Amino acid sequence: MTDTHRASIILGITGGVAAYKAAELARLWIKAGYAVQAAMTEAATHFVGTATLQALTGRPVLTDLWGTAGSGMDHIHASRQADLIVVAPASADFMAKLAQGRADDLLSTLCLARACPLMLAPAMNREMWANPATQRNLAQLIEDGVHIVGPDSGEQACGETGLGRMSEPQAIFEAVEAMLFDGVLSGKKVLITAGPTYEPIDPVRGITNLSSGKMGYALAAAAREAGAEVTLISGPAALATPAGVSRFNVTTANEMFDAVMECAAKQDVFISVAAVADYRPAEAGAQKIKKSEQPLTLNLLPNKDILASVAALPKAPFCVGFAAETEKLLEHAEAKRQKKRLPMLVANLAQHTLGADHAELVVLDDRGSHPLPAADKLTQARRIVSHLAKLLS
Ligand code: CTP
Repeated sequence: MTDTHRASIILGITGGVAAYKAAELARLWIKAGYAVQAAMTEAATHFVGTATLQALTGRPVLTDLWGTAGSGMDHIHASRQADLIVVAPASADFMAKLAQGRADDLLSTLCLARACPLMLAPAMNREMWANPATQRNLAQLIEDGVHIVGPDSGEQACGETGLGRMSEPQAIFEAVEAMLFDGVLSGKKVLITAGPTYEPIDPVRGITNLSSGKMGYALAAAAREAGAEVTLISGPAALATPAGVSRFNVTTANEMFDAVMECAAKQDVFISVAAVADYRPAEAGAQKIKKSEQPLTLNLLPNKDILASVAALPKAPFCVGFAAETEKLLEHAEAKRQKKRLPMLVANLAQHTLGADHAELVVLDDRGSHPLPAADKLTQARRIVSHLAKLLS
């Protein structure tokens, strides 16, 4: 397919009620800039019309092994041009066929002749899914390197409730995003700060904030997934270190500054997610401050801005900032991006995001603003990594 597309996907559709959801999946990909070639089994055409898929993808749908393209080699040509084949829905019968390496219709032949990854979104009755034969086929397919997304649990077309519903198109879309961007940061060194800082007032009290560290840790996981060598410098956070990530713990903004500056110049990317305290007590008492009837005044000194210091280095890595605002999100965030001279900044409304598992974000770069609709933090982290990878390339 053409260079102007992000990637070329063959959307395989097999027979099942969930076939109607494949139209929405095609729409999501087209909107996101992918080239989509639909290929349907004969059974699938009883559930959704080829005209619908043709209209959405702008290409005739492949249905027949003995196609009209002339050479009779449609399956070889189509599978060679694809970056990925996704079969959604994948019926129990189709999974059985793939597990055995059979090729008796166009879609199964495309899958067998492919030179690209294959992803299946199974959809079937819960008993069919639970059947040992299907589970055996599933295990074989996973062993063969086939990617599986879903199925979900819920109400089924047959009226029963259980595991077997096809994953929602948005979830399949996200799984493909994650897979296609696997390795996009390979060979890159990425430094990430996360969590709050803690500025001691005395040995038992201090100034901190509500940052949980979840977003920074999710980004460390996503950058690692994308193949980067990741260093995480974390303020106090009760989170497990993502697999394969080197983590260094710090407490204060000054410690975080020193840890970051020690390795920043050797990095390709710096992602500053930490909620660094802007001020610290001028002096931390060596002993616990005793209560008295008098008002207590704390003298606060400004902390150094870690992100701005890294961005100002002579050989600065590509710097990504975060902005937590409570109002006028785009205006304040863009002003912050300009002031700290950042090529990319991720903005959110603090009251909706702090400590939460889900976040609605906006990425700002030289081309404008790019909304990332509400999703869990790992999904958002993968989207941020995809965006970052595109800017780096
Ligand atoms: N940041 C930093 N060092 C600081 C303060 C902030 O590295 N001492 C980084 C954060 O990690 C984030 C970005 O700067 O990537 C924005 O931080 P934020 O606190 O929202 O902005 P401030 O510049 O501190 O402005 P304000 O608090 O007035 O909103």
